[in-house]
Amino acid sequence: MNQRPSNGPEGPKRAGDYSGPEAERIIPKMNHYPMDIQHYAGHWKYFPEYNCRYLKGVVYCETPKEQNLQNFNLFVPKAYLNEDGSVNLEGVCGRFTAETAPIIMQSSVMGYSEAPAGMLRADGRGPDQKLATAFLASGMIYCSVGVRGRQTQDAQGNYVGKAPALLTDVKAALRFYRHNKTHLPGNTDRIIFVGVSAGGNLAALVGSTCDRAEFEPGLREIGAVMDESDAVYASQCYCPITALSHADMAYEWMFRGQYKTEGTPIDPAGKTLTAFQRRLSEELAVRYIRYVNDLGLSDPATGQALTLGSDGRSGTFYDALLRELEASATKYLRLIRENSPKVISCTPAQYVSGDYTMVRHTPGGDQVSPGIDKSTWLSWDGEAAHITGLSPMLLGVAKRMKNCPAFDSLDLQEFENEEFGPSSQKLSHFNRMMASVLEALQNDFPEESEKYLPTYRAIQDDPLLMEQEKLLNPHSFIGTGTENLCSHFRIRAGSMDPHTSFSTAMLLAYNLKRAGADVDFAFVWEAKHGVCDYEGELMEWIQSIL
Ligand code: DHB
Repeated sequence: MNQRPSNGPEGPKRAGDYSGPEAERIIPKMNHYPMDIQHYAGHWKYFPEYNCRYLKGVVYCETPKEQNLQNFNLFVPKAYLNEDGSVNLEGVCGRFTAETAPIIMQSSVMGYSEAPAGMLRADGRGPDQKLATAFLASGMIYCSVGVRGRQTQDAQGNYVGKAPALLTDVKAALRFYRHNKTHLPGNTDRIIFVGVSAGGNLAALVGSTCDRAEFEPGLREIGAVMDESDAVYASQCYCPITALSHADMAYEWMFRGQYKTEGTPIDPAGKTLTAFQRRLSEELAVRYIRYVNDLGLSDPATGQALTLGSDGRSGTFYDALLRELEASATKYLRLIRENSPKVISCTPAQYVSGDYTMVRHTPGGDQVSPGIDKSTWLSWDGEAAHITGLSPMLLGVAKRMKNCPAFDSLDLQEFENEEFGPSSQKLSHFNRMMASVLEALQNDFPEESEKYLPTYRAIQDDPLLMEQEKLLNPHSFIGTGTENLCSHFRIRAGSMDPHTSFSTAMLLAYNLKRAGADVDFAFVWEAKHGVCDYEGELMEWIQSIL
């Protein structure tokens, strides 16, 4: 159904799916799964390539809807466990012991799809391999949590993985781990959750809804341990696809005036927005300006009020975004100047003029492309980078990728249309303000209005959607009490990522700061959608907060 370039016509497959013996994960159906890790005592195995012991398929709730998803795989540096799976309290690995080791939890969720627990592979080619390898080598415990997703169905065909199932599942896993902490290594006061994209939103949610009562009914439904905390210590959010109820507006504000999507291998010509969609885009962009201005945000550094000018390309909010982008370009260009292996090899001037070759290392091999001339919007004064404007930068390096609307698609074609709605229904609209937007276009576009308006009107006051929207949006919780926020957030977003508006990650960071959280936020220059980071910096951050 979905026409995303990176995900293929069916949308992403289950993120943790890969072939090979390590991928087997058939868990027999039981009425009640044990919540006692001792049940798995004889099942620990040794993984020589990682010098770790691992346990596969630990079902973390008593009555899962899908036991092959609602389980985790746990990888523990060998030193922390005896051969029989009991904790070796004397065990030391890197800076940590079996008692002090932090626990890194991750879910491989992509595109709000269901994601089985990830398994490390002997050949080193699993999706989350690189990070996991580094965690284990430095003495951290790694736990990959499987979660339900938008297409998960039970035996009766009900869609049981819609919002907020992925978050409920991670909470259940956290509670299970704590419930068993006397028989498991690691410090449950130092759990750090890591997620990318939809998983980046998940990470933001895990970190901003610690022990919130709103999730208890969902936890009870799957038989989670109810008398344990689901708090985490820190959260790493990469490219968070967050605040879905405002994402359509944000996208049109960011790509205002770009009326064609970038071509892809499966859709080389790209899509051209119709006259109706252009007006819709404009209307959404204008509403985003109002929305931002009503937030009452201020600059975390200076306290200055952050607002957008009526053109959407001026005002303190816009300036703040440009400053964040400039900071990210400055870091990159300084690394170029220092000839760092972390970036390409050329001079800063050559980088600006496009006189270089870009080599990206991807799992499928190196991708080589010619440099891009950025001199019309990017300059370098020897110390700092300057960007003249968002629109020319986007046209240069991050063209529009999604149709309009970008998330709650007119014809229900986006991932998110499967993420919301009742369990009896595969697809649903979820942008409850779209009806009022379409009403504004009714006179000029009667035909389209007749086609689309009733379907958006039908969901305008839908209580289930209101609840799902609330539970899947970290902003619903941020600012309502610091006791539900984890201690540290790190947010990274790619400066070449057109999956959502740049303002989305920035708003998450600024709102968290406003609520008093410790937030390390940055755009990563030249980075696309995914684990966008400079080598080693996540690990440095983890070390710094421990
Ligand atoms: C993801 C990407 C998207 O463009 C989106 O809308 C939702 C999720 C992802 O990569 O997880």
